[in-house]
Amino acid sequence: MTSSPTRVDGSAIPGACAVRACGVEKSFGSGDSKVSVLRGVDMETRLGELVLLMGPSGCGKTTLISALCGTLNIDAGRIELLGRDLASFGSSERVRFRGQHVGFVFQQFNLIPTLSAMENVSIPCLLTGGSDREAEERAAHWLESVGLGSHIDSFPREMSGGQQQRVAIARALVHEPDLLICDEPTAALDTMTGRTVMELLKTVATRPNRSVIIVTHDQRIEGYADRIIEMEDGRIRASRAAHPASVAGGTSISVSPT
Ligand SMILES: Nc1ncnc2c1ncn2[C@@H]1O[C@H](COP(=O)(O)OP(=O)(O)O)[C@@H](O)[C@H]1O
Ligand SMILES: [Mg+2]
Repeated sequence: MTSSPTRVDGSAIPGACAVRACGVEKSFGSGDSKVSVLRGVDMETRLGELVLLMGPSGCGKTTLISALCGTLNIDAGRIELLGRDLASFGSSERVRFRGQHVGFVFQQFNLIPTLSAMENVSIPCLLTGGSDREAEERAAHWLESVGLGSHIDSFPREMSGGQQQRVAIARALVHEPDLLICDEPTAALDTMTGRTVMELLKTVATRPNRSVIIVTHDQRIEGYADRIIEMEDGRIRASRAAHPASVAGGTSISVSPT
């Protein structure tokens, strides 16, 4: 049976399962050109933890997170997002649920070039039914939180890569999602700027009632994680605690059954 990770008032319960994948399979193409990308993925993340999903390029990380949040249909297996079986949603209900509960940060920022920072960050609030005024107030708050209070009227072309990624983080958090997914958020940034973005994700994005999944193959950012899930060739190879306390007591490694 599926247990909901929310209280009666709808608030998320820290430590509860945020997203769970069981036996997930996904292929692209057909016949001789069929490529099996996800080959029986079992994993879960919990509210309150920052998880790094790591693995070599092409191992299926982006495909997996697309499946986890329901932007990609799977061929077999089961995905629960915040206690709800994704297969139980109709497509418009799934889009609405994702809009309310999930935030995204992408490698290339994906800001709308013709909109100001404030307008870009307001979008998720407006899409989830907020008034113009509420959206503006929240956007201003979040731009302030990521250190861009003086750039609310700037356009993406007027900002550095690091500043654009901070706008993207504000946009991903403005509707207070339960799950934040970041796909290679530091890959387009130099080392120092990437570190600033990771600091920000650690301090601003992490909450007891939020699960943060960061896809990366940058081993330099391992220190920011509570847990590291290693992926290889369409499967989860290992899931290990990365918290300094755990490391001090001997890193626990659990290898998923194949
Ligand atoms: N829409 C698609 N059609 C066909 N092949 C795809 C598609 N999306 C991803 N793939 C293939 O799936 C494999 C894994 O891709 P991806 O999930 O993007 O890996 P990663 O994010 O780990 O680099 C790659 O070989 C890629 O070419
Ligand atoms: Mg990828």
